Amino acid sequence: MAKVATADIRKKVGKLRRQIEYHNYRYYVLDSPEITDAQYDALLRQLQEWERAHPELITPDSPTQRVGAPPVAEFGEVSHRVPMLSLDNAFKSEEVRAWYKRIAKLLPSGDQMEFTVEPKVDGLAVSLTYQNGLLIRGATRGDGFVGEDVTPNLRTIPSIPLRIPVDGKKRPPALIEVRGEVYIPQRAFVEMNQKLAAAGERTLVNPRNAAAGSVRQKDSSITASRPLTISVYGVGHFEGVVLRSQWETLQFLQEMGFRTPPDVSRHKDLEGAIAACEKGIEKSEGWDFEADGVVVKVNSFAQQERLGVVGHAPRWAIAYKFPAEEAITRLLEVGINVGRTGTLNPYAVLEPVRVSGVTVSSATLHNFEDIQRKDIRQGDWVVVKRAGEVIPQVVRPLSSRRTGRERRIRPPRKCPQCGEAIYKPEDEVMYYCINASCPAQLVRNIEHWVSKGAMDIEGFGEKQTAKFVELGLVKDAADLYYLKRDKILGLEGFAEKATDNLLEAIQASKQRPLWRTITALGIRHVGSTVAQLLTRHFSSVDELMNASQEELLRIAGIGPHTARSIAEYFRQRRNRRFIEKLRRAGVRLSRAGEEAAPARGPLSGLTFVITGTLPKMSREEAAALIVQRGGKVVDSVSKKTSYLVVGEDPGGTKFNKAKELGIPRIDEGQLRQLAQGKR
Ligand code: IVH
Repeated sequence: MAKVATADIRKKVGKLRRQIEYHNYRYYVLDSPEITDAQYDALLRQLQEWERAHPELITPDSPTQRVGAPPVAEFGEVSHRVPMLSLDNAFKSEEVRAWYKRIAKLLPSGDQMEFTVEPKVDGLAVSLTYQNGLLIRGATRGDGFVGEDVTPNLRTIPSIPLRIPVDGKKRPPALIEVRGEVYIPQRAFVEMNQKLAAAGERTLVNPRNAAAGSVRQKDSSITASRPLTISVYGVGHFEGVVLRSQWETLQFLQEMGFRTPPDVSRHKDLEGAIAACEKGIEKSEGWDFEADGVVVKVNSFAQQERLGVVGHAPRWAIAYKFPAEEAITRLLEVGINVGRTGTLNPYAVLEPVRVSGVTVSSATLHNFEDIQRKDIRQGDWVVVKRAGEVIPQVVRPLSSRRTGRERRIRPPRKCPQCGEAIYKPEDEVMYYCINASCPAQLVRNIEHWVSKGAMDIEGFGEKQTAKFVELGLVKDAADLYYLKRDKILGLEGFAEKATDNLLEAIQASKQRPLWRTITALGIRHVGSTVAQLLTRHFSSVDELMNASQEELLRIAGIGPHTARSIAEYFRQRRNRRFIEKLRRAGVRLSRAGEEAAPARGPLSGLTFVITGTLPKMSREEAAALIVQRGGKVVDSVSKKTSYLVVGEDPGGTKFNKAKELGIPRIDEGQLRQLAQGKR
């Protein structure tokens, strides 16, 4: 009896897995999802449910099995059957021509060469081995011959297929080792750093180091929390498939369901390839990764084999490097910013210099340990670097240019802002100011309180915060709710209207949903995601305040650091008094009466305008359908409108405006289709 049921469920589970893999592929590889996140989550939940009821059906390639491997103490070693080589560099087109001349001599005379040109992604090189389509091993490059076994970590990266081909239509090769670069997309890197900063955690220096650090974590759940992706550009050893060229290989990898680099081109002659190299810099502006150049490869594998390897680099490929985004300038002095949690963040004041088109006059020095390690001194000539959108950094000093007048940089003895003592926890590299009411910290605290991700108080930015703190109008964020109109009126930028707007914005923020208030408290490690998680378990600040560390730890997604930090925050009398002050001011401290979050559904994120008489529904019914499925309905057409729903006798203004702005017009039938998730 049970067997029959199992056979039936086995089929269903298999089908659902293929469905989930397909949607995963649409989202992470093609960047073109066909269903909403909510629908995807529902499929995954269904699979988890079935697997919970029938654990014997769980397979290693199930989409539920990406995360959850136990942490490892040491990484194992992996020998690469075909060494993972590095590349020789060219900095000018002349050097590419010289390379061509060198290699042309090594091929039979009259042999024509074709070339491919691909982006050179700056991340971490990895190798993925698939046996009969199943991912059996993932390794780092290491020294090119032996790398580290990081299989559990690489399995957490959603764009790495656990089974190939993703669409299940072709046969997988018996064995294939696929090579590519793991990286963090630039936008995701900036967002990740914003989240870390909001949670009071240290931010990561650049996408490349962040990617490398994430892949080499002993605990794969940390890797899973980082927005990693992969771009696959080649193969090592393979059996059971015929691949004759680089171009064919890239096509094949794509068919198997891998993400391959964008803007890859094939050229019948060298000059075509060189032109593509020169266009690379322009093209790179559209790439979501940092690239330090492009790679020119001889296309044919037969020719590649003939050309062979010298030292660590193949003769059949060369990297055409973009001009370095580095510059040399003087480090004039060292300043210190005091962060929201009291961290002392050293930065360099530089003689202004242009780096990749932007004038830079300050750069981060990370922390005092880093300064010491790199031996950076005040007055030094230094190399500064801008990486993507990231803040410029001081890379290293040019010690050969020293005159002897440079001064060593030491951590201060006192907080440069308030003069109070500082301390450094043993297991951290940062120094902290111990004074909880240090004005610099206070400014950061209030900036955080009013920020978009927290209480979202419009019209109150950095400048206003600093001014109000300086004038003693606010000594903590709760003071915002006690501000008197006559104290603000007349300050710079605060005429009647601006004053009233500000007071109104502050007033409105009292009713923010509980998760925003919890985010705004600025507890270390508690950003908006953790805050939302907490409000699912606690319905008020009081409940959270009284939760023990053990209770907090029982919540999936809350780790020991976060639990300790929350408990520590509420243990402090000062913070409890602050909460009371908020309560007296009428700030919402519980979920009661919170407006329900808008429904999520196929229309999430879309805005509609309705015009004319619809054939089967009233306008109100259509509006209700849209809202119920997660969309928004507004009265007039603007750039933000996603669709104009047109019935009979449409209003001329709405219709013409939509036409002018190129906003798609749909009828009732198409609206119903959209509402069902069909796009
Ligand atoms: S080909 C045998 N192609 O650059 C040649 N490498 O400096 C080496 N890289 O370790 C691999 N994008 O991690 C190749 N399209 C691309 C690449 C690429 C990035 C990295 C790779 C390699 C390093 C060599």
